[in-house]
Amino acid sequence: MLQLAGKVAIVTGSTRGIGRAIAEALWRAGANVVVSGRSGTAAEALAAAWGPRALGLACDVRDPGACERLVQRAVAAFGGLDILVNNAGIGIFGTVRELTPEQWRAVLGTNLDSLFFCCHAALPALSARGAAWSINIGSLAGKNAFPGGAAYNASKFGLIGFSEALMQEVRHDGVRVSYIMPGSVATEFSHPSGSGGDDWKVRPEDIAQLVLDLLATPDRTLPSRIEVRPSRPPRP
Ligand SMILES: NC(=O)c1ccc[n+]([C@@H]2O[C@H](COP(=O)([O-])OP(=O)(O)OC[C@H]3O[C@@H](n4cnc5c(N)ncnc54)[C@H](OP(=O)(O)O)[C@@H]3O)[C@@H](O)[C@H]2O)c1
Repeated sequence: MLQLAGKVAIVTGSTRGIGRAIAEALWRAGANVVVSGRSGTAAEALAAAWGPRALGLACDVRDPGACERLVQRAVAAFGGLDILVNNAGIGIFGTVRELTPEQWRAVLGTNLDSLFFCCHAALPALSARGAAWSINIGSLAGKNAFPGGAAYNASKFGLIGFSEALMQEVRHDGVRVSYIMPGSVATEFSHPSGSGGDDWKVRPEDIAQLVLDLLATPDRTLPSRIEVRPSRPPRP
């Protein structure tokens, strides 16, 4: 089993769903983990349940100052940073005629601006480690556009461009950049009520396992893009 004792990880948007599963998997593997979301209360409650190797912080990833503080507090608490998982994301769906500028900004700010803010803040600490990762949670919507998806598609197409450019910028500094593109995952993202009917979907724990698999990759090798989808979705 992968051992991450002594490693330090930040997972954005980790109060529930995929981010929470990733944070928990990293914590179970022995890492020190910073859990975060817009709600500091939810992040703190989760970290309190996990004990001293977890720290819960409020961080709205649309705010560059909050992203800077998130990194600073992680480094101050645990002595460095090895793993940044850019997971926070929202979906607001509607045609271009329907979407408001506020909705557009909310999606692009949460899903795309955040990547720049968090990576910009974290790169000095990551590159100081000699062997670090930035893992960005994209989506199959980053290559498959659909009507009503303009904002979400733009944010996730953008994530790929950002990740590919950053990967080439920092690979020689000992920072590997990967992005995972899930299809449907059983979280509150698509069913806020948690009303069920999700049995065919990928589970958040499966995405967390992919993150652990990435981290176990030999230092000489960089799996940069991972697509993952349900094996047996409902037939069209
Ligand atoms: N579920 C899917 O089918 C699916 C498929 C492909 C890709 N994805 C991607 O996977 C990622 C996680 O999705 P999920 O399904 O786990 O969603 P989720 O269950 O709705 O969880 C989203 C997380 O992001 C946080 N968040 C939202 N806005 C934020 C902000 N401005 N700043 C900081 N944190 C914020 C939320 O916490 P707070 O509300 O406390 O802020 C929550 O912890 C997203 O990037 C999403 O695009 C999901």
